[in-house]
Amino acid sequence: MLEIKNLSYNVDEKDAQKDILKNVSLTFEDNKIYVITGPNGSGKSTLVKLIMGLLKASDGQILFDGKDITNLAINERANLGISYAFQQPVTFKGLKVRDLLDIASGEKNNVDKLCEYLSTVGLCAKDYINRPLDDKLSGGELKRIELAMVLARKTKVNIFDEPEAGIDLWSFDNLTNIFSSLNNCNIIVSHQKKILDIADEIILIKNGQLIAQGKPEEIYPLLEGNTCHRLRGENG
Ligand SMILES: Nc1ncnc2c1ncn2[C@@H]1O[C@H](COP(=O)(O)OP(=O)(O)OP(=O)(O)O)[C@@H](O)[C@H]1O
Ligand SMILES: [Mg+2]
Repeated sequence: MLEIKNLSYNVDEKDAQKDILKNVSLTFEDNKIYVITGPNGSGKSTLVKLIMGLLKASDGQILFDGKDITNLAINERANLGISYAFQQPVTFKGLKVRDLLDIASGEKNNVDKLCEYLSTVGLCAKDYINRPLDDKLSGGELKRIELAMVLARKTKVNIFDEPEAGIDLWSFDNLTNIFSSLNNCNIIVSHQKKILDIADEIILIKNGQLIAQGKPEEIYPLLEGNTCHRLRGENG
């Protein structure tokens, strides 16, 4: 179980301090799918980066299975069992797809196993296992490879920041099936209804604050409200 308590993140701007995340407290239980949603710039990526340790919290606490991980480095959190897939995947010069999957799973995989990981994310293994992880891969291909890497790690907590970005609509059902089949705690940042639909709980973030948390049917009316406000050009 992952718990965040009164988590805040602020940065120094010219004259004042800017609060990007304000006093957010949440509990993420095992074997559940949490989808974090909210307007662009509301603090969703910041929240998940704080959980992974990519950013350092200004205030508050993060507990993982009761252990305080607030001051642990990224690799220490990864070793405890937290995985993270970026909104914009990173490339690794000199590394091939198969190397990445071997590193992720912590063992040398045979072709059948590599094929299993890659076909789960809709890639034909023989075309990809020896491909270098460079910018010649398309955005969608990189997203899928990153997803395969998270699958190979088999960690307790998986964080995905907008996994749907760049994935063609035809593959969407497969993507949601992958999340539904993962037996651990999945925290997914998304704007997509099809992903919101598979959530056990939706977490709504707005202006750096936790606005609501609940089952999709409880949260959907609030999202419709948000859209109307934004379409009408109102603030907030
Ligand atoms: N280091 C920083 N300095 C100043 N502002 C920052 C910094 N990092 C993030 N921000 C701002 O904090 C806000 C939240 O950013 P964040 O990336 O968490 O948004 P998001 O909810 O993930 O948005 P999106 O849906 O567009 O991905 C944004 O307005 C962003 O510009
Ligand atoms: Mg984001």
